[in-house]
Amino acid sequence: MEDFLEQMRNDHKDFDHGSLEGNFGSQPFELFSTWFSEAIETKQVEPNAFVLSTVNTALQASSRILYLKEVLDNQFVFYTNYNSHKGTDLMHNNTASMLFFWPNLQRQVRIEGTCSKVPSAVSDAYFASRPRASQIGAWASHQSEKLEDRTMLEARVEALAQQFPDSVPRPPHWGGYALTPTLVEFWQGRPSRLHDRIVYEQVEGQWEIYRKNP
Ligand SMILES: Cc1cc2nc3c(=O)[nH]c(=O)nc-3n(C[C@H](O)[C@H](O)[C@H](O)COP(=O)(O)O)c2cc1C
Repeated sequence: MEDFLEQMRNDHKDFDHGSLEGNFGSQPFELFSTWFSEAIETKQVEPNAFVLSTVNTALQASSRILYLKEVLDNQFVFYTNYNSHKGTDLMHNNTASMLFFWPNLQRQVRIEGTCSKVPSAVSDAYFASRPRASQIGAWASHQSEKLEDRTMLEARVEALAQQFPDSVPRPPHWGGYALTPTLVEFWQGRPSRLHDRIVYEQVEGQWEIYRKNP
């Protein structure tokens, strides 16, 4: 591992995948949408995967990967178990950060804001669109709780498959969160480490746009 990290340090990476010059819009959503489309077009691995960081009541931060499922009314929507570690964090402290990284484009997007549960009807519609096995999984997994033995989880799946022979209702503890952004930073790798950083920040209800040193 040390050899590999040494090699990485010595590798001369000069980023050149475009710049952030000109008009990038008065709100962050257009540029996010453009970058997201380009991440898909250029076949980035898991383009909708992002790191969600939350902070608990003891001010301990924690991070995990999730999938972005929708951008609805300028809010970033993801789905999870409301009783999970992240769900518990968000119940007490609804601020969170999302981080997207599209390595082959040398792009990073940092989003900060507050999360709220999406309306039940929105979660219902998304849950109904999921494959049956994932629907049963959402009931079976007591996400983030200690699991003594994997066979217990598998037994729950079997029992639930019998309990719901046809359609599977959405578990009340499973659904979406929408993050309303207060800050969005676009980072574009540029040659000689002189990267572009463009920040959109909400100030008194308006998007203020500024550049940051790399
Ligand atoms: C590529 C990838 C995508 C994931 N997407 C989700 C997701 O959309 N929702 C989810 O609850 N967990 C997802 N996970 C699992 C989470 O990273 C995490 O393990 C789980 O949500 C429990 O997190 P917590 O205990 O911090 O609450 C994903 C993991 C990976 C690696």
